[in-house]
Amino acid sequence: MNENAIKKAYEFARDYHCNDCSGHDFEHIKRVFSNVCALMKETSECNEFIVKISALLHDIDDWKLKTDGNNTLKFLQSINLEQNIIDEILSTIDAISFSKCGSNPNLKTVEMKLLFDADKLDAMGAIGLCRTIMFSACHNRPLFDENIFPEANLTQEAYKNITRKENNTINHFFDKLLKLKNAMQTDAGKKEAQKRHEFMVFFLNQFFAEQNLNEWQKYLEHYLKESETNKKNNISLLIQ
Ligand code: ADP
Ligand code: NI
Repeated sequence: MNENAIKKAYEFARDYHCNDCSGHDFEHIKRVFSNVCALMKETSECNEFIVKISALLHDIDDWKLKTDGNNTLKFLQSINLEQNIIDEILSTIDAISFSKCGSNPNLKTVEMKLLFDADKLDAMGAIGLCRTIMFSACHNRPLFDENIFPEANLTQEAYKNITRKENNTINHFFDKLLKLKNAMQTDAGKKEAQKRHEFMVFFLNQFFAEQNLNEWQKYLEHYLKESETNKKNNISLLIQ
């Protein structure tokens, strides 16, 4: 494996994400890197170099970070990787990107599946809760409004409209985070996602119980039942 390229990608990502406080800081990149390493241990065959370097670079051109979309390519060219390797890295990253692939991520390779699971795991559980609060605070979104329920049948366009009235921290769990468990692509990812999912459900129940919001607790219960029915019927409602 090209250890030198991994080292340069690590340093590039560290410098690039150093000032972020929207949930895309370098700690997120390090956790995704560590997630892919753990998932790879339980995966029989994959190209370790592609998986690792894609994990380090996966958020460089994220649409929310207002880039011109070419920073990853420019970096990969600057470290003189062969064009076919560059193409493989870019397509692995593109495959998990919402802005390019919408609600139908086209995960053809095991490397794409590993990166997808590693990134989504970091949006779940205790870490996911913290990142969501940071993201909302950074974008001046409220924590919660008991009178505003999540939008049903959320479209990609609506999802990307951060300022819509339904978009707040708690509603984001229903818009995205509670859907991730059923979207996992690898067996190891599914196993870990289950634990992180349970924590989020526990947190939400407690959040509603502390305010005697029975209606919201029923909403959560119904939402979870519907998700399981959709899973059985192979219906994916995943936006991102
Ligand atoms: P990732 O890096 O995992 O692809 P995103 O780019 O979607 O995640 O977002 C970064 C973090 O901010 C995630 O934890 C995500 O759940 C959270 N986030 C994204 N959109 C919103 C939103 N509209 N409201 C609250 N949190 C959000
Ligand atoms: Ni990410």
